[in-house]
Amino acid sequence: MSGLTNISVIGAGLMGHGIAVSFARAGHRVGVHDAFAESLETLPARAAASLELLGHSPVEREEALNRIEAKESLADCVAAADLVIEAAPEKLELKQQIFEQVEEAAPQNCILASNTSVIPITSIMADLRHRERALGTHWWNPPHLIPLVEVIRTEWTLPDTMEQVMDLLASIGKTPVRVEKDVPGFIGNRLQHALWREAISLVENGICDAAAVDTVINSSFGRRLSVLGPLANADLVGTDLTLAIHQNVLSDLEDSGRPSPYLEELVAGGRLGMKSGEGFYKWTPEEADALRKRVSDHLRKLETILD
Ligand SMILES: NC(=O)c1ccc[n+]([C@@H]2O[C@H](COP(=O)([O-])OP(=O)(O)OC[C@H]3O[C@@H](n4cnc5c(N)ncnc54)[C@H](O)[C@@H]3O)[C@@H](O)[C@H]2O)c1
Repeated sequence: MSGLTNISVIGAGLMGHGIAVSFARAGHRVGVHDAFAESLETLPARAAASLELLGHSPVEREEALNRIEAKESLADCVAAADLVIEAAPEKLELKQQIFEQVEEAAPQNCILASNTSVIPITSIMADLRHRERALGTHWWNPPHLIPLVEVIRTEWTLPDTMEQVMDLLASIGKTPVRVEKDVPGFIGNRLQHALWREAISLVENGICDAAAVDTVINSSFGRRLSVLGPLANADLVGTDLTLAIHQNVLSDLEDSGRPSPYLEELVAGGRLGMKSGEGFYKWTPEEADALRKRVSDHLRKLETILD
């Protein structure tokens, strides 16, 4: 048992509300602070919708919602916290300021975690007085549906702090993974963006269109990825075959150390994806909503068939 009971979440947005839901449905009391009143006002409705999506009955939803308390004051929110998870916007200075305030108001043994996507935890936590109790917890969107949480240690993080957070996350049904060095992108985003770099390069170089890239993945190795990771797969086919493939193909793969010019052109031209109606594809609002729903339905179904 981790001994961590009271959870505080700073930032009630897309990630923060789902993190709060994940703890509340497992029986924890969760205080949630946001700097914007509207985010706190809409929190109960958003949390209720996510609990419903997770299949909870009206009574269970009510019980879980009662454990989530919106807090206008950050100091109030963290005053009795065992763990604070910050899920505010991805800006280094903002995150540093938040942790400065949290450190003032939280108990001295409270563990401090950032949910940053890519900012090094070391940069966020460097100025804390007690940085040995700080680490990263990188949840994935939607946090209440994706099991993985990457738990990132810095050079200062105490082993016991890592253990407590790993135990806590496992106890609420998440799948925590230790990241032993604080590298940009941790594990998941490094892997994901290595794939995206090659995917964009294939389109940029006229080898295929965007739909072909996505079809190849959706209809081949994407189907087995949730039960067969790449390294177990390398063992399955043989490390000798893996080596032979690497000898033939690696020198031809995209290895530019900078973002693709094709991607830069999309962004400069306002083709920002679903939010602007066009990116690699064209999107009507209905098509964008339909895909979001398909992803969330798929994730729910996976929960029922995977252990
Ligand atoms: N969206 C994703 O897919 C994803 C995945 C993993 C990690 N993250 C990371 O999680 C963090 C939050 O992302 P999000 O997608 O939930 O963003 P979001 O914009 O949906 O939510 C951020 C929330 O923080 C609030 N906020 C702004 N300033 C604040 C302050 N000073 N104090 C307290 N709250 C404040 C905003 O009102 C908003 O409700 C970011 O660091 C992001 O990079 C996002």
